[in-house]
Amino acid sequence: MITRRKAAENSTIGGPIEEVDESELKRTRVYSKRKSSSVCFSTTRKIAYGAFYLFWFVFGLLVIRKTQNAIAAVRYVKRHGESVSVNLIENSPEFKDLLYTLDHDFTKPPAFLLLNQYALNMTYNFLCNTAQLDGVHERLVFVTLDSVARDELRAKWPQIRQLHWPTPSLYKPFSFAEGPYQTIYLLRANLAVALLRKGKSFWMMQQDTFWRKSLFDQHFEDDMSFDALFDQIGEDENAQRAEWVNGANFFIRASNKTLEFFEGVAEKLGHWYTPDMGIMIHQCHTWGTVRCAYMPHKLAHSWEWMYTGQQDPPLIMQLDCETDGGSKLMQLGRFGFHFTEKDGTCNATKVHMAAERMEQGNIEVTRALPSWGRLQFKAYWWIVDYMLWTPIIGPMLKPYLPMVGYILMITL
Ligand SMILES: *[C@@H]1O[C@H](CO)[C@@H](O)[C@H](O)[C@H]1NC(C)=O
Ligand SMILES: *[C@@H]1O[C@H](CO)[C@@H](O)[C@H](O)[C@H]1NC(C)=O
Ligand SMILES: *[C@@H]1O[C@H](CO)[C@@H](O)[C@H](O)[C@H]1NC(C)=O
Repeated sequence: MITRRKAAENSTIGGPIEEVDESELKRTRVYSKRKSSSVCFSTTRKIAYGAFYLFWFVFGLLVIRKTQNAIAAVRYVKRHGESVSVNLIENSPEFKDLLYTLDHDFTKPPAFLLLNQYALNMTYNFLCNTAQLDGVHERLVFVTLDSVARDELRAKWPQIRQLHWPTPSLYKPFSFAEGPYQTIYLLRANLAVALLRKGKSFWMMQQDTFWRKSLFDQHFEDDMSFDALFDQIGEDENAQRAEWVNGANFFIRASNKTLEFFEGVAEKLGHWYTPDMGIMIHQCHTWGTVRCAYMPHKLAHSWEWMYTGQQDPPLIMQLDCETDGGSKLMQLGRFGFHFTEKDGTCNATKVHMAAERMEQGNIEVTRALPSWGRLQFKAYWWIVDYMLWTPIIGPMLKPYLPMVGYILMITL
């Protein structure tokens, strides 16, 4: 007992001392804790401020860069627009020859594709692909923009028709949204105007499209329920971006309305920094003069089809999986859509194999990381989908958003 008491006494004696100690300890601990947290807090705040300033700094740089690019592109188009003008096209002997050919050799509207020498390999690939399909090559007219493209294409595919339109401002590989890129679309719009003035209906097409079957066998030209038939973007008919013109492959029926439509496209392309598909979307959705129709996704799709369940293989699939032409064929090779051998000869077996794989829905998509360019596109589509999905504002924005596409894509 005594010992216990002593112990208790001891403890009571020692108690206050301990308590003081502890409270002191506590106090110091609390104090030091507060000190460390305030250090921590100010560090986080510094990082937050830093990130905030860095974000707006980078954003500012991007805005400046974008503005410079926009000014440069519009200047380029203005400087070189004359070499692709409607007047020049209409009054050229080449165009007159073309009209003669269209009147005498064509019973159905022609399809135009443009290329310079940097797109030759892509063009061979397309010609190899469509060589198997009846009556396709006969309807194609390739607009060759330099003499290398003209001569090499003639050497490899002598029976393919050409409209030679040497354009020095287009003698280089194209980069998305830059001056030459805009100029080639201006040429395309002006060629459309020249054709429509002569009452010629036409297709505009792109070589980076795989044809599983012939699009011409669908006889779209006989369907009088529309004036213009466009391919569309988005994954299917219910997508936010459905009924947005893709602009790679489309058919235009000649009339005063479609003429006015393309005069509008050409006029805007010559003065504004805006994608031609943006102008076409805007005019289709707001003018109400031209009846625009859209090819169902089951007929025409983009490379995105490969990343769906691969059901309902489309007749044609646009394979714009890369923004620069150089690596495009390599990319297509990975999916099994590169058909020419190293010496440029066409391997028909490869075409059949690709079509078969598509029909069976077992195209192997490499799960490798998409390129930086592709990744940015994906990010922008994602943002756009959310903007369109917004109630009330989304539908209101739908016809206008693509017009400011270049500006919104600030990192490209
Ligand atoms: C086209 O392909 C050939 C042979 O595969 C290659 O030598 C050439 O560099 C390619 N040209 C371009 C512009 O990519
Ligand atoms: C198209 O316009 C021209 C001139 O403005 C006119 O002569 C022609 O009759 C018009 N054609 C049609 C089908 O309306
Ligand atoms: C065509 O491609 C197939 C499949 O890749 C290949 O087996 C065949 O040897 C090629 N033919 C020629 C003539 O290169």
